[in-house]
Amino acid sequence: MTTGKLSEKMYNALNEQIRNEYFSAYLYLAMSACCQDMNLPGTANWFRAQYKEELSHGDKIYDYMFARSARVKLLQIDQPAFEWESPLSMFRNALEHEKYVTGLINNLVTIANEDKDYATLSFLQWFVNEQVEEESAAEAIIAQFEMAGASKGNLMYLDKCLGKRKAENGD
Ligand code: FEO
Repeated sequence: MTTGKLSEKMYNALNEQIRNEYFSAYLYLAMSACCQDMNLPGTANWFRAQYKEELSHGDKIYDYMFARSARVKLLQIDQPAFEWESPLSMFRNALEHEKYVTGLINNLVTIANEDKDYATLSFLQWFVNEQVEEESAAEAIIAQFEMAGASKGNLMYLDKCLGKRKAENGD
């Protein structure tokens, strides 16, 4: 059966969340490309690592659905923005986006509660914790760019710091 051990509502919402995670990946890859164009290789590296992390979030839900005997339905992914005026505006956009994703995760938790679907509730806890990290990481970097101001030297230093981020596997 397509929805497996999930309610139809949860099945549809998880398919949507896979789409949202892959859209997040696409958005951060677009930001990475924009940074490359701005000659900010370190910041581009940070967003590239974030892109990979988002892919792993989508994959995590994909694998979970099959573990619950549900067949994933892949949905269309929107085109992300193309231009940002500065790395600061990208991180502000990233924070706004992560807050939106937190709302989606909370909605999934509400559905799992309504369904008394304790397995999915437990699975989603990882995403609840991850969103705390995602928002706090973006907030910290925004504060650093705000402090750096328009100084080229400060921006180069920050870019170098962001270049140290390594891609994680999302666990
Ligand atoms: Fe998949 Fe940025 O949360």
